[in-house]
Amino acid sequence: MSSLIADKKTLIVVGPGGVGKTTTSAALAVHAARMGLKVLVLTVDPARRLASSLGLKELGNQEVEIDPRLFEEAGTPLQVGPRGTRGRLFGMMLDVKSTFDGLVERYAPNDEVRRKILTNPFYVQGSSALAGSQEYMAMEKLYEIREQRDYDLIVLDTPPTSNALDFLRAADRLEDFLGSQTAKVLVQGAKAAGRFGLGFLKVNTFIMRGLNKFVGADMFLNVLEFIQSFHEMYAGFKQRAARVKEILKSPDVGFLVVSSTDSAAIDESVFFHEQLRRSGMPFSAMLVNRVRETRLSDADIAGLGDHLLAVSPPIGDRHALERVAAVAEEAARDWHVLAKVDALRLSELRTRFANLGETAPIVPIPLFQRDIHDIGALARYAEVVASALGLGVPPTEPTAVPTPPGE
Ligand SMILES: Nc1ncnc2c1ncn2[C@@H]1O[C@H](COP(=O)(O)OP(=O)(O)OP(=O)(O)O)[C@@H](O)[C@H]1O
Ligand SMILES: [Mg+2]
Repeated sequence: MSSLIADKKTLIVVGPGGVGKTTTSAALAVHAARMGLKVLVLTVDPARRLASSLGLKELGNQEVEIDPRLFEEAGTPLQVGPRGTRGRLFGMMLDVKSTFDGLVERYAPNDEVRRKILTNPFYVQGSSALAGSQEYMAMEKLYEIREQRDYDLIVLDTPPTSNALDFLRAADRLEDFLGSQTAKVLVQGAKAAGRFGLGFLKVNTFIMRGLNKFVGADMFLNVLEFIQSFHEMYAGFKQRAARVKEILKSPDVGFLVVSSTDSAAIDESVFFHEQLRRSGMPFSAMLVNRVRETRLSDADIAGLGDHLLAVSPPIGDRHALERVAAVAEEAARDWHVLAKVDALRLSELRTRFANLGETAPIVPIPLFQRDIHDIGALARYAEVVASALGLGVPPTEPTAVPTPPGE
């Protein structure tokens, strides 16, 4: 597992909503950069949290380098890695629309089709909202960056989908739709209409009145025209989609499934893990985040109030002190129960993995006292994961960059 950062070129962080995917992605990227790698974290999260974590006001569709001084200030300097140079961290936020535009630019067979798609109002307004397009474009961008850039590691954060599987199925769905009977019928329809010009439908008030009952007639024509033009890119697009899908199965890709200790989240994550395995995608680890932990025993808890009273100096209002001790004992007891529940859920999860014959690790990550927003906190979060996985933890003193021989 120490190969997670060394052997993998891409880590894809998936899981149910709100479990800590963005935090985990940023933390792993921070860690890998500290180890001396050139790393990109690509987030599709519309929230600005990651950007602020990394000291950036905004992340855009371009890679932005995170200021190395932030690492030094956090006491977690960037070390020299296998390349003999100091690690570098870049961040980027996926812009679905411009990624989509890029594909159209590339695959439209001619200028006319290109113009038709890019100016089609349905495309302009709706392309980023098309079902699965966010997920698909994330993979598309990943593919593009893997092809064109020389990152040692790309960490891909995935969107807060209600169904984590959307991400996996996006390529298939798009391909299925473009190749489907429905699309063919629509394209035929558009072609037939095209013989008379789509304007023919516009002037046919009888048809238009009927259409208007369902959707705006103009929008319907836009959709029809969009599908027709899009279909002309089908061959190129299909090949591309197949290649994009292939990278998800490549051995230098690792999927990390993040879960919380919530039982619904665990169920969803286990389900997702099964889907990954079934689709032949390389599953690397399950991270169970925000685990409540306790260092006290049952006996410690039972005597806590009395103990607090015993060690308190005999000053002030004795009754007030007793109340505080009682509240402290109760809070500790509640926490203790929650920690036991989390421990139980983890052991159940381990049993489920064992029953499935899954040998990849399950990594508990404790609930931190505070939100994890800055480099220092991200580094500490990643260190927990790194030590559980036997990955190295870089020193906190910067090492010198070796001088190339002859200089
Ligand atoms: N172990 C932890 N301890 C304390 N806070 C945490 C922990 N992990 C994550 N958080 C906090 O929880 C919040 C949600 O995390 P994050 O944004 O990473 O989740 P997400 O899975 O990306 O959510 P979404 O599905 O909405 O994209 C953040 O404020 C983050 O700082
Ligand atoms: Mg997120």
